[in-house]
Amino acid sequence: MRRAPKAPAIPAAALMREAARARSRAHAPYSRFPVGAALLARSGRVIQGCNVENASYGLGVCAERAAIFRALSEGERDFVAIAVTGKPGRGAPPCGACRQVLHEFAPKLVVLYRDRRGRLVRRRLDQLLPDAFDFPSRRGR
Ligand code: THU
Repeated sequence: MRRAPKAPAIPAAALMREAARARSRAHAPYSRFPVGAALLARSGRVIQGCNVENASYGLGVCAERAAIFRALSEGERDFVAIAVTGKPGRGAPPCGACRQVLHEFAPKLVVLYRDRRGRLVRRRLDQLLPDAFDFPSRRGR
């Protein structure tokens, strides 16, 4: 009997370290809440992103969206996991807007982040965003 392909192992600790590296490049002078993300593509590449704020507050972008927009722009389309990290001890689950954007490309993405107690949390994106909006004509792809 043919087995389903094995899900790739997620290098959680290494991804969290890459997210922390990305966080060191955040531009967050307004919120003082730098965030870093590391997105693992199925190709094996890890794409980093950080939040980039602006004096016109609403124009800022979160770390997760910075990472996936960069990855898509560079030709990556298939994603396995994302690690997100904020201020140690504060917890940094991805915001709702980032969940929706990530869902467009990878509903089964593994999402890693720390909760407020500093414990590593691992969830599937479709658990974090049940009943995500999907454009009617794209359903059932
Ligand atoms: N932020 C992220 O980068 N990712 C999230 O998922 C939540 C919030 C950023 C946006 C803003 O620059 C700062 O954190 C404070 O909200």
